[in-house]
Amino acid sequence: MILVTGGAGYIGSHTCVELIQAGYEVVIVDNLCNSKYEAVRRIEKITGVLPKFYEVDILDKEGLTKVFQENKIDAVIHFAGLKAVGESVRLPMKYYHNNITGTLVLCEVMAQFGCKKIVFSSSATVYGDPAFIPITEECPKGQCTNPYGWTKSMIEQILTDFNTADPEWDVILLRYFNPVGAHESGLLGEDPNGIPNNLMPYIQRVAIGKLDHLNVFGDDYDTPDGTGVRDYIHVVDLAIGHVHAVKKVMEPVGVKIYNLGTGKGSSVLDIVKAYSKACGHDIPYVVAPRRAGDIATNYADPTKAYEELGWKAVRGIDKMCEDSWHFMQMNPNGLE
Ligand code: NAD
Ligand code: UFG
Repeated sequence: MILVTGGAGYIGSHTCVELIQAGYEVVIVDNLCNSKYEAVRRIEKITGVLPKFYEVDILDKEGLTKVFQENKIDAVIHFAGLKAVGESVRLPMKYYHNNITGTLVLCEVMAQFGCKKIVFSSSATVYGDPAFIPITEECPKGQCTNPYGWTKSMIEQILTDFNTADPEWDVILLRYFNPVGAHESGLLGEDPNGIPNNLMPYIQRVAIGKLDHLNVFGDDYDTPDGTGVRDYIHVVDLAIGHVHAVKKVMEPVGVKIYNLGTGKGSSVLDIVKAYSKACGHDIPYVVAPRRAGDIATNYADPTKAYEELGWKAVRGIDKMCEDSWHFMQMNPNGLE
């Protein structure tokens, strides 16, 4: 049985679907601070299986203990965490406490129950301004530009130190590039609260008419069309990557790091174009100043994940935009 923390969230819910479809039993722990129980019902709609759900905060040791008492957990996929970059700059205490203390409490309870296998949601943000592109796992970690990024970098170190002290800990650190898109059914997807910070959720709302135009943050980068280049990865490809990782973590792996990206860079304007095609009308945009902390180009070399996990992303940006648009049309007000 796999415990999925943050399993009601965007990436977690898609991962639960793929785990269930691969034959795993799934238990979700989520405090619903950035998600809705409706996501769990949607998982059932897609798979025919309602995963066991605990509305528990990972900071709540007693709550987590009960989950481990009532379920025989073989491994944990740990998504639960706060992820708003801007908010983390304003509220660093909240981010360090939730993400880092939360992970420590989770691992303490895991160890008590002899479950020492964890797959952790890290981010390409740990590379900082990357030393080389495409980014392999050999690329040195860099300076993060915000507390959110530091929580990822620090948790990677913490989990690595657990393994050094006790080799029974098996740890897989997954460094995601830019997850976007939605489940093909239109039942699961991403719809953040408030005005979105990230490109795809912002374009989604322009496409549906809730925001009137996109601001393109800078068109004078050293990239083919001057706009920022990122490695967008379809959330279903990413979710399937977790199924491969959880299978791997059952072996004595020690600590393994994998980039989960497509290996292909797309510019802001490439995404605008693909989205216009998907939704059938233009996406109005204006060029705005660069956003502080942004880098020009960021994409993965995903070879290691292919060689060691047998996984690679297969969905391209057209599919990412089509599925995002389908989700938006089916859920104009999010998961209600
Ligand atoms: P999300 O906010 O949709 O999902 C996170 C889930 O964790 C939410 O359902 C939230 O309610 C839950 N949660 C947060 N704090 C909790 C706590 N203390 N106890 C219990 N539940 C808690 O975000 P997501 O996009 O699905 O991201 C999942 C993970 O992947 C996060 O750790 C995130 O930092 C990481 N990540 C995301 C991206 C991205 O662009 N989406 C990129 C790299 C890494
Ligand atoms: N962009 C715009 N307009 C917008 C939003 C974004 O032009 O309204 C541009 C950005 O400048 C960037 C690209 O679109 O060039 C992608 O921006 P996102 O905010 O969608 O993604 P980032 O690459 O900046 O950040 C993502 C995650 C972070 C993570 C980081 C590094 O959101 O959590 O990747 O892995 F830390």
